[in-house]
Amino acid sequence: MTMNFGFHLPTRIEFAAGLLSQTGKLISRIFAGNKVLVVTDRGIQNSGICDQVVCSLKEQAFDITVFDRVEPNPKDRDCEAGSKLARQISADIIVAVGGGSVIDSAKAIALLKTREKPLSSYTGSGKITGKITAIAAIPTTAGTGSEVTRSAVITDTKRNVKMTIKDVLLAPKLALVDPETTCSLPAELTASTGMDALVHAVEAYTCKKANPLSDALALAAVEKIYPALPVAVRDGSNKLARNDLMNGSLMAGLAFSHADVGSVHCMAEAVGSLYDTPHGVANSMFLPVVTAFNAGHDPERHARIASICGLAANKLDPKKASENLVEQLDRLSNEISIPHFSELDRVNPADFEYLAEISAANGSTPSNCRPVTKNDYLRLFKDCYNRRR
Ligand SMILES: [Fe+2]
Repeated sequence: MTMNFGFHLPTRIEFAAGLLSQTGKLISRIFAGNKVLVVTDRGIQNSGICDQVVCSLKEQAFDITVFDRVEPNPKDRDCEAGSKLARQISADIIVAVGGGSVIDSAKAIALLKTREKPLSSYTGSGKITGKITAIAAIPTTAGTGSEVTRSAVITDTKRNVKMTIKDVLLAPKLALVDPETTCSLPAELTASTGMDALVHAVEAYTCKKANPLSDALALAAVEKIYPALPVAVRDGSNKLARNDLMNGSLMAGLAFSHADVGSVHCMAEAVGSLYDTPHGVANSMFLPVVTAFNAGHDPERHARIASICGLAANKLDPKKASENLVEQLDRLSNEISIPHFSELDRVNPADFEYLAEISAANGSTPSNCRPVTKNDYLRLFKDCYNRRR
């Protein structure tokens, strides 16, 4: 079978340990203008990473204002406040320093800066016209891949649902990727964000929109992330593991932004919008149960992932290899202390019907490799809640 596909890389990527100190020079070489809005969160402010970026920008005489009000599961109201500030200072450049929530917020802030309509009116794919303020993204977690994706996921606080806005115009102009920014990340965050990256790779490879280039990136990402993740969780100062995780996260981001994600993300976004569960934690909890649901539908692709992870000896039957993968994903979640769904604050089985409904309505549900209905989602939420590791 032949396949037609497009592959558009709008983001320049610079990847190196210690690159943070070159932020000012890189941005002055690539961007026009002098007024910079730095978008970040309080955790990154307190870590000193944001100060290093600001310092490097000041050396190149940039005029800097910092907006540090981004929260996990970023909210529309904070993006509106950020865009108001961007307008007030007439920002020429938006520099995002943080994890996925920060980078997604920076995209929404850049979008709203020159527009009057609410964020919700851009939900979906390709609804943006005109120009957007240029973004430089500096990730501080190895997970989201948002530094190279063209989407932003923001919570609509009036309806309590996540809005996904997809448009190539949202892609950062520059991704400045320095794996050393993740060396001080606590084990718990390393675990959940790293699992998010692994989910991106697995879903990009197994989803219906996969293409040969996204496949190559997704498999290369699995090869980096799978062995490095437990090492980085155990020993955050291991620079090789940090490098491989960041590298894998970047490739997984490129893969899923040119393919799609699947049901793990649909369930994770539903839970994130209702309970404010961090995205990486939610994805981690649902990966084994959704992989078990999907594996029988496409055992060859799941077996290929198992093989990359060293879980399928030569000529092992694909069905058996994909069963090994499910088993091992459970074991990995245990090893890196991912919480169980039933242990989360506020989780109530009475909500599962609603969670299943919004998962089914998620724009990525049709991309999941196996067709999935609201009733399937209901069963998956129940299975995950009752599952024992
Ligand atoms: Fe994700």
